[in-house]
Amino acid sequence: MILYFSGTENSKYLAEKLGELLDDDALDLFTYIKAGKEGNFNSTKPFVLVAPTYSWRLPRFLEDFLLKCKFSGSADIYVLMNYGDSFGNAESYLKKDFEKLGLNFNGLYGIKMPENYLLLFNLDSDQTNKKIVEEANLELEKVTSIIKSGENFPKTKVSLAGRLQSSLVNSLFYKFIVKDKKFYASGKCIECGLCSKVCVLNNISCENGRPKWLGSCTHCCACISKCPTGAIEYGEKTIGKDRYLLSKLLKN
Ligand SMILES: Cc1cc2nc3c(=O)[nH]c(=O)nc-3n(C[C@H](O)[C@H](O)[C@H](O)COP(=O)(O)O)c2cc1C
Ligand code: SF4
Ligand code: SF4
Repeated sequence: MILYFSGTENSKYLAEKLGELLDDDALDLFTYIKAGKEGNFNSTKPFVLVAPTYSWRLPRFLEDFLLKCKFSGSADIYVLMNYGDSFGNAESYLKKDFEKLGLNFNGLYGIKMPENYLLLFNLDSDQTNKKIVEEANLELEKVTSIIKSGENFPKTKVSLAGRLQSSLVNSLFYKFIVKDKKFYASGKCIECGLCSKVCVLNNISCENGRPKWLGSCTHCCACISKCPTGAIEYGEKTIGKDRYLLSKLLKN
């Protein structure tokens, strides 16, 4: 069973493709997390978690959710994290988490996918992103053959910088950067309510039509990237920038 969370469809894409390659089901964890429901997963095949990298680790809300889930059937879990640049020392934290859950952690495989974090960074061109996706498809074939063989993923080497990024920088990131005060909806808002529906943490209320951010954001970029009119902005940082969504990239 493949379990995934995706803010801007990169992880969804990889999870669904892997599902086809492994002839296994891909299950979106969004509905569980949004509904505050605990996961109780049973699979005869190894579990595979597919997720984005947030600050050189698994997204914190996803880690918190997984630590409360129950897993039965297979005792093996592989993790496939996708990233725009690097994933630091994520592996050692995953190992500890899955050991706590009584699972055999079969390793972390990182696949580069298009950067989606437009709240902080500039995004790459469509042309560059298409190349990145093509290369990711080749990586998925390698991942498939390792999982089919029952081997562990190869261990990744971690630099001192990677250790610091996943520890100290990760803590500072959540403390100082992951805030939603800068979000607002511009005059382009048509009061459709979609941003509220796509927020995994129920952090957007649209009671009077227009969105209001409620203070418990994880910066997943789903609201800003999926708004049909491009009405959502994050301070000045996003003005005039394209939004990233994988389905949009593949259509161009
Ligand atoms: C809040 C946030 C933090 C991120 N942190 C990292 C990071 O530490 N390293 C990295 O390489 N990419 C980072 N990224 C980029 C995403 O991991 C990457 O674009 C991923 O493919 C997005 O997957 P998704 O479309 O399934 O959400 C970050 C993105 C967001 C939104
Ligand atoms: S998704 Fe966009 S247009 Fe729809 S309510 Fe939210 S901000 Fe407004
Ligand atoms: S408010 Fe937007 S960026 Fe924050 S968690 Fe919800 S959908 Fe993601």
